[in-house]
Amino acid sequence: MDKLLITGGNRLKGEITVSGAKNAALPILCASLLTADTITLDNVPNLKDIGTTLRLLGQMGVQSEHSNNTVQLSAAQVSSLEAPYELVKTMRASILVLGPLLTRFGEARVSLPGGCAIGQRPVDQHIKGLEAMGADIKIEHGFVVAKAKRLKGASIRTDMVTVTGTENLMMAAVLAEGRTTLENAAREPEISDLAELLNKMGARIQGHGGDRIIIDGVDSLHGASHRVIADRIEAGTFLCAVGAAGGEIVLRNAAPETMGAILDKLQEAGLAIECGSDWIRCSMHKRPRATGFRTSEYPGFPTDMQAQLMALNTVADGTAVIVENIFENRYMHVQELGRMGASIDIDGHTAVVTGVPQLSGATVMATDLRASASLVIAGLAAYGDTTVERIYHLDRGYERMEEKLRSVGANIQRLTREAA
Ligand code: UD1
Repeated sequence: MDKLLITGGNRLKGEITVSGAKNAALPILCASLLTADTITLDNVPNLKDIGTTLRLLGQMGVQSEHSNNTVQLSAAQVSSLEAPYELVKTMRASILVLGPLLTRFGEARVSLPGGCAIGQRPVDQHIKGLEAMGADIKIEHGFVVAKAKRLKGASIRTDMVTVTGTENLMMAAVLAEGRTTLENAAREPEISDLAELLNKMGARIQGHGGDRIIIDGVDSLHGASHRVIADRIEAGTFLCAVGAAGGEIVLRNAAPETMGAILDKLQEAGLAIECGSDWIRCSMHKRPRATGFRTSEYPGFPTDMQAQLMALNTVADGTAVIVENIFENRYMHVQELGRMGASIDIDGHTAVVTGVPQLSGATVMATDLRASASLVIAGLAAYGDTTVERIYHLDRGYERMEEKLRSVGANIQRLTREAA
């Protein structure tokens, strides 16, 4: 298994190009199932999760061509309506094929994802919404088995705000008969990006970006081209790295308008930040200030940035109180940060981080995607060598992270299985 070897202490200086957003690209790839025409996508990040999604779609009969960051998909000849356990277990977002398959083909069999490292993460809201649209759904042999002649528009209020739940229901509703209203919808920019592609395909969606999305079903959708929005979490991760290690970088191809809560918190931590329409310049020439925060749904502070801002807080001046409100078990990086000398107390959903002047490098193990990113940030700020093991998690969601960091002066290298 690959590892990252980081020698901390270098300040970061230079430019990084931000990749397309993983969490926008995944539902968008699944939306290709909604039409027999070709979908052309640009700015698709080259990530393990994207490869998994293309494999998943491929075994259903979707043809795809992937070169650099462009993907062309054709679901003209779909031969299987099933998402098998082997793929779903490696990537929960596979559940995003459920809505498109059911609404276009009247049938779908998708393995239940089960638990994951950061919590239980059920899909009951996806199911509840599809049932409200008239689907007949059973759980059989670990699969969600869904059937419907044609889905019917419905008024659906999810019990909690769910990102992939909103996306699945929105994709199901575009080909349903009549009007669907999604209340308590997620407002994440990735949902708006998906809605924009669907509208280019002929869907009639309004209100995306707000908590009430109205979808008027159409009989069929056609091909379209779309550029995936920039990854706000990847961008935020690099900004946290500068906050913890110091330096000055410019992020290109960024979407600062989607990063309000992240940029506010980083400014509170002492970073100087300047933005244009698609770039962010940030600099940090002192020790960061402790900055407490609570994770919440967009436009609040994202849970996917919690671990990275915590890493910054481990070397900050003062004590920060962090509350994780979205997932019940998302503090697994804490123990590993502790091995590097961080001082963090956990009580339920609350973490109290008392900054130390410096972390010391250690061998640490990544447990999930964003936890891995926090360990890389800690390693960049630490004194001495840090080895981050099990970085396959990192490869699920960051495109060439070590190359990008090296290009701004970080001392970081990948040890491949053979070399390690
Ligand atoms: C998405 C993101 C993930 C991010 C998360 C929260 C993708 C591919 N993944 O995950 O990176 O961390 O949003 O911003 O976009 N819940 C239920 N029942 C459901 C659905 C959700 O109880 O049917 C709960 C979850 O357990 C969790 C909360 O609702 O506690 C929010 O989860 P949700 O927004 O659905 O997360 P994902 O869409 O899986």
